[in-house]
Amino acid sequence: MPNTVLVGAQWGDEGKGKITDLIASKYDYVVRYQGGNNAGHTVIHGDKKLALHLMPSGVMYENAVPVIGNSVVVDPGVLVKEMAMLEAEGISCKNLKISCDAHVIMPYHKDLDGADEKSLGEHKIGTTKRGIGPCYQDKVARKGIRIQDLMDEKIFRLKVETALVQKNAILEKIYGLHTYTVEEICEEYLPYARILKQYMAETSQMLNDAVRAGKSILFEGAQGTLLDIDHGTYPYVTSSSCCAGGAATGSGVGPVNIDRVLGIQKAYITRVGGGPFPTELKYAEDGGEGIEAEEGETLCQVGHEYGVTTGRKRRCGWFDAVIARYAADVNGLTDVALTKLDVLSAFDTIKVCVAYECNGERYDYFPMQQRVLFHAKPI
Ligand code: IMP
Repeated sequence: MPNTVLVGAQWGDEGKGKITDLIASKYDYVVRYQGGNNAGHTVIHGDKKLALHLMPSGVMYENAVPVIGNSVVVDPGVLVKEMAMLEAEGISCKNLKISCDAHVIMPYHKDLDGADEKSLGEHKIGTTKRGIGPCYQDKVARKGIRIQDLMDEKIFRLKVETALVQKNAILEKIYGLHTYTVEEICEEYLPYARILKQYMAETSQMLNDAVRAGKSILFEGAQGTLLDIDHGTYPYVTSSSCCAGGAATGSGVGPVNIDRVLGIQKAYITRVGGGPFPTELKYAEDGGEGIEAEEGETLCQVGHEYGVTTGRKRRCGWFDAVIARYAADVNGLTDVALTKLDVLSAFDTIKVCVAYECNGERYDYFPMQQRVLFHAKPI
């Protein structure tokens, strides 16, 4: 199989999990390369529905090695729970490899995610409140705690102690929240380290050896193109590189060793959280009216558009070809999988957006400037 990046070509929830499940068994390695447990997809196992948030879907196939790459942010408590749930269902996690360079989501990251959002008021991003943004902030500020630090008790204590000087001050003085002690955090996190230690690996080296040995890799993207920190609808984005380019930095495999980029698009579009959405069909409770609100409601109901991670009702709208063209460019798509076409059977007539209109001007391309995008009307 050609080494392939599977990437969301919209705002996430395109049905990546479904396509991954279809093709993952054909690959030797399945690598998550960004994001954390803000992602979620449902896997049908026998007669049960299982929700995966952090575990690469390769775990469902005995032959594939599931890999949590270096640019993923890991909440160890969530991972340990997810592994226990899978093991209880008879799905072995023994092949899992976790990059020693992946960053760890700490308890204060989750608190700060919620507090930051609250302080933004009506301009809030609508995050999943899993601590994703604050964890990536620490990574970029070079203050993060990595999986390899978690595995070394002495280093971990030292890093937590240093981090708490700032974090406690922010939690208490800016947000009036509770603070943490080193002991409290160690008590919760060190047992996770003992469970996860056997899975830690130098994954970049391992994957490059695999490439040399002619093995195949599926890079499993989470979220989607328009949630990418660089190419998405900033600031209404997540904090990682969801686009195909992120697969190289997020795994340590060079771009020349990636053969194909498979973009997943849904036959209509959904979005969770805030931010511009030109083809949105607003629900009645969000100020939508008449047939458009009804069409939005139909897409939501027929398409079961509720978040796997948060249970939130997703915003729904018609297919947007401007976004499709943009996603093809910024990811270098070689292939496309179109999902959930059957949902459109609920309509006699469907719409497809081919361009935008803003201030009397026509845009055939995705406008980078928010002042245009926020006011874009679909044509
Ligand atoms: P965060 O990733 O929790 O920081 O959230 C930032 C934005 O990305 C919010 O609008 C979320 O709703 C959105 N988001 C994060 N993960 C997903 C996902 O898996 N599907 C769809 N939207 C997501």
